[in-house]
Amino acid sequence: MKINYTLLNEEELDYVEVGEANELGNGERMFISIDEKNIVVFNIAGRYFAIADLCSHDEGPVGEGEIANEFEIACPRHGARFDLRNGKVLSLPAIVDIPAYPVRVTEGRLEIGLPLN
Ligand code: FES
Repeated sequence: MKINYTLLNEEELDYVEVGEANELGNGERMFISIDEKNIVVFNIAGRYFAIADLCSHDEGPVGEGEIANEFEIACPRHGARFDLRNGKVLSLPAIVDIPAYPVRVTEGRLEIGLPLN
C-alpha cells in the first residue's frame, strides 16, 4: 500500500525547491524529477498540487492525463482516475492510491514536501 504523503507531519518532510511559483500559471503543469521520483505539479486556480507521475495500475504517465471535476486526473492509458489533492484512487482499473506531496510557496518559490525516509 502506498503512503499518502500529504498526511505526514511537517517534521517528516523535507521541502525541496522546484521553481518559481509565477512560472507555473493557472491551468499549467510542470514535470520534475527528484531523487529518481517523477512528480508532476499542477496549478489549479491558484492552488498547487503534486502527485507521482506514475499510475498505480500499470505505471502509465498519469500526469499527462486530462483534468476533470476540478481535482480529478484521468490516466491517459486506461482511464483510472485519481484525486490530485491526496492521490486517492477514484476509479478502476487502478485500485491503489498514488503518492501526493504537499506543495507550499515560500517567498515566491514553489516547494514540494518529500518524505525524509
Ligand atoms: S496505466 Fe494508468 S490506468 Fe492503466
